[in-house]
Amino acid sequence: MSPASPVTRYHLVLVTLHWLLAVLICIALGMGMFSLSATPNSSPAKVDALKGHMVAGITILLLMTVRLVVRAVTAHPPPAQTGMAWADRLGPLAHGALYLGVFAMAGSGIAMAVGAGLPQIVFQGVGQLPADFHHLPARAVHGLVASLLVLLIVLHVAAALYHQWVRRDHLLARMGFGPRR
Ligand code: HEM
Ligand code: HEM
Repeated sequence: MSPASPVTRYHLVLVTLHWLLAVLICIALGMGMFSLSATPNSSPAKVDALKGHMVAGITILLLMTVRLVVRAVTAHPPPAQTGMAWADRLGPLAHGALYLGVFAMAGSGIAMAVGAGLPQIVFQGVGQLPADFHHLPARAVHGLVASLLVLLIVLHVAAALYHQWVRRDHLLARMGFGPRR
């Protein structure tokens, strides 16, 4: 892409995946925190809840991987400016941290599932759930990264709204649908 003609929006596939994943990730975080971890493993509803969460988590992992590839091979708008050097440096770091956080959630979730034998218990009906998952180190990582990810998402949304409403630079349009020039 020639620097003389920068694109004004992210690629259509990236935009679609951004909004689809934003919804899926928020649902996985909300259901994980408020429903899944609040349901004891002794409850008859737990296996189905785990099944839904694991399928959603793996779907998120696959879509995030596609997104990372599309991000690497498509042109992006030039970095957003805030007029504050520290904030301009923080933006790309925060975007990287969002990717890292989601991959860490998927990785620790899979490690926890494998450690507890969940693939067999949940998808093949073989064996029983342990009393809980708290003996697994990956459970602690999953819980901690979930809280960090929520914090990052809140900061990310606040930054986007600051651009949109305070700086009035139409940042949201860069992650919107429409012509790219
Ligand atoms: C789970 C929720 C979200 C995640 C994980 C997420 C992640 C990201 C990432 C990683 C980027 C960098 C572009 C890329 O590499 O794809 C990005 C860009 C962007 N996001 Fe989000 N996002 C989320 C929710 C939101 C929400 C709710 C809004 C709107 C308020 C939003 C507005 C934007 C905008 C405007 C950009 C473009 C920023 C720029 O051009 O520098 N995001 N998002
Ligand atoms: C990638 C997106 C994912 C997100 C956003 C997510 C989110 C969450 C959250 C917020 C919790 C509750 C944490 C707490 O309250 O401390 C949780 C628990 C859990 N997640 Fe995930 N998760 C994801 C992926 C996965 C995957 C891929 C698996 C397994 C294959 C998985 C398996 C589990 C298990 C077994 C629990 C524990 C439930 C319990 O303690 O009863 N997660 N997840």
